[in-house]
Amino acid sequence: MTAARPKPLIFGNWKMHLTVSQARSFLQELLPLLPHREDREIAVAPAYTALAAVRDQLKGHSVRLAAQNLFWEGEGPYTGEVSALMLQELGVVYVLVGHSERRQHLGETDRMVGRKVRAALSSSINPIVCVGEQESARSAGRAAAVVRKQVLRAFENVSPEDVGRLAVAYEPTWAVGSGRPASVADASEMHRSIRQDLVGLFADAGHQIRILYGGSVTAQNIDGFLGDPAVDGALVGGASLQPREFGRIAGFLP
Ligand code: PGA
Repeated sequence: MTAARPKPLIFGNWKMHLTVSQARSFLQELLPLLPHREDREIAVAPAYTALAAVRDQLKGHSVRLAAQNLFWEGEGPYTGEVSALMLQELGVVYVLVGHSERRQHLGETDRMVGRKVRAALSSSINPIVCVGEQESARSAGRAAAVVRKQVLRAFENVSPEDVGRLAVAYEPTWAVGSGRPASVADASEMHRSIRQDLVGLFADAGHQIRILYGGSVTAQNIDGFLGDPAVDGALVGGASLQPREFGRIAGFLP
């Protein structure tokens, strides 16, 4: 290890949940449970439609605004898509790229993920690239190879001065939304393998990239993940939609 580790990031991915009015009442309940703390960073990613309302509600609060996706082109005839600049103007700080649900249901490929990473970097938004193997790859002993390929493709052509803005979320697909998280030992092993790949790509700067764990994170298992030195935060789906549960995961409630 080189310089100090970045502070842990706890990221709530709301997926396709919460309309604008639902997001408002949800945050009214959640925000009082998340007082500012210097030692960790919290972000929430609403649906596109709720971004502006959530931004307004987060004013004066340290919780960061994030998006779940973006398109790789800056503007043009891409009906239904949303650009990095559009998100930047809304105050978006982080964007998920290549979530397994998008890879699975929308055919997102490693090449598209790489283009989206570069589009985010061309704005002020920091990309969080989701990687993870399917259960069949794990059983076949190919998990690390699958994840390595995803990482290398995502970060092709990233220039050295942008490395500090990157993050990775390791989310084995079989753990996402299943109630079956990876064991801390398996997550830790994969995080160390990802770290090696990042250092291979970016030399020492690769140590500064946060690697989050995601997949059935709950208040019960979060301490185990965050207690592992290879885990720099958590990407939380289902449990981020329950205010008290997310408050506990973020470390603010007993
Ligand atoms: P989950 O989702 O916490 O519901 O497993 C994680 C994610 O999809 O980011």
